[in-house]
Amino acid sequence: MAKTAVEMESQIRDISLAPQGKRKLEWVKAHMPLLNNMEERFREEQPFRGMRVAICLHLEAKTGYLAQVIQAGGAEVAVCGSNPLSTQDDVVAALVDSGITAYAWHNTTEEEYKMLIDKTLDFNPHAIIDDGADLVSILHSQRPQQARDVIGGCEETTTGIHRLKALAAEGSLRFPMMAVNDAYCKYLFDNRYGTGQSVWDGINRTTNLVVAGKTVVVVGYGWCGKGVAMRAKGQGAKVIVTEIDPIKAIEAYMDGFQVMAMQEAAAQGDVFVTVTGNKDVIADRHFDAMKDGAVMCNAGHFDIEISKPDLEERAASVREVRTNIDEYSMEDGRRLYLLAGGRLVNLAAGDGHPAEVMDLTFALQAMSLQYVVENAKKLKPEVHPVPEHLDRYAANLRLQTMGIEIDTLTREQEEYLKSWML
Ligand code: NAD
Ligand code: ADE
Repeated sequence: MAKTAVEMESQIRDISLAPQGKRKLEWVKAHMPLLNNMEERFREEQPFRGMRVAICLHLEAKTGYLAQVIQAGGAEVAVCGSNPLSTQDDVVAALVDSGITAYAWHNTTEEEYKMLIDKTLDFNPHAIIDDGADLVSILHSQRPQQARDVIGGCEETTTGIHRLKALAAEGSLRFPMMAVNDAYCKYLFDNRYGTGQSVWDGINRTTNLVVAGKTVVVVGYGWCGKGVAMRAKGQGAKVIVTEIDPIKAIEAYMDGFQVMAMQEAAAQGDVFVTVTGNKDVIADRHFDAMKDGAVMCNAGHFDIEISKPDLEERAASVREVRTNIDEYSMEDGRRLYLLAGGRLVNLAAGDGHPAEVMDLTFALQAMSLQYVVENAKKLKPEVHPVPEHLDRYAANLRLQTMGIEIDTLTREQEEYLKSWML
């Protein structure tokens, strides 16, 4: 059959994988009722008619469906991956088959990764959806002229928000960006319960080892760390938390976890999970203190949390012992194991968060994109919170789809809550 224009333009692994990718998309569509609702609404209202939208996200099935929902809203869509290991080639093939231009394949080199982002920006998007702020960063550092033509966009994750705020603080951000990560219906559920479940899914399926009875060290007790620690405890692990924030440290302690400095935890852990968004949180002499057989993985956005250079420097040899597990043999005979090359374990060695969780997140993405596009003239080139009414709309719709009814305030209760007199 003759190739379509989208297929000719796209750069992907193998279009013949499309039927397998379509089945993955069908499965998530059956579990993402909020996005089903947005798709129907967008098809009617066409909020993105005539626009080009570039999406840089972890390209697995849930993200694929989001891209199709934006397309249903009238946009021409191009996608690329937000991590060299999280792209699923079959999903990408199915997207191309449905008319979405894709520049992505699994396991890119760093050069290929950057080249594919560049290709996506050559698509000249009017609006963007970013996960980790790579599109925004390249637009501002290498394509400042083009950045002026972008109407606005949305950011998915904590690390991306940090980067956007740094850009805005310099006064250099050229267009409004919606901080989707910071919406209640995002971080309370996606970062906490989504990461809590999917990180353990990634670790369990990769290692096929028992968790019960082991000592798990969770590095960072933010929204993601809380979920990872909670689910480690649920599987019967003894959990240690390390932090640099005294308030989060007390929170972890009051939640029933042991809290200590990383150097002390390094000697006790059987499994280490980093989830800080910070660099070198396991580094240098931490490796010297670890037990033979210790397993390390990262769930933070970039692969900089566990220092691979320090680990490599100490290793006499490195070999892959199982898919996604590298064994570092130390000079003294100890063996340390790193999962998924230190890239976020739930996406590089798993399928990411559960569909029902990403349904809330991606409903917020879809609504925030519509909001930024419709309000582009009014919004300053800053990082903007998702308006509370959209957050509440998503929460109510989610409750509705779960068949859960909640109470509403009576008029008397409303009055009472507004009054100050006894
Ligand atoms: P957060 O800001 O809520 O939490 C990060 C925590 O790490 C903070 O409490 C901070 O004090 C702590 N921290 C920083 N440096 C530390 C150090 N040296 N040692 C110990 N603790 C340290 O952020 P979050 O929402 O939990 O996100 C964390 C990372 O995970 C980010 O990179 C984010 O982009 C990423 N993320 C990943 C997924 C996923 O699917 N894997 C999902 C959401 C977010
Ligand atoms: N699937 C797609 N994007 C994701 C994300 N940012 N976190 C977890 N799972 C995902």
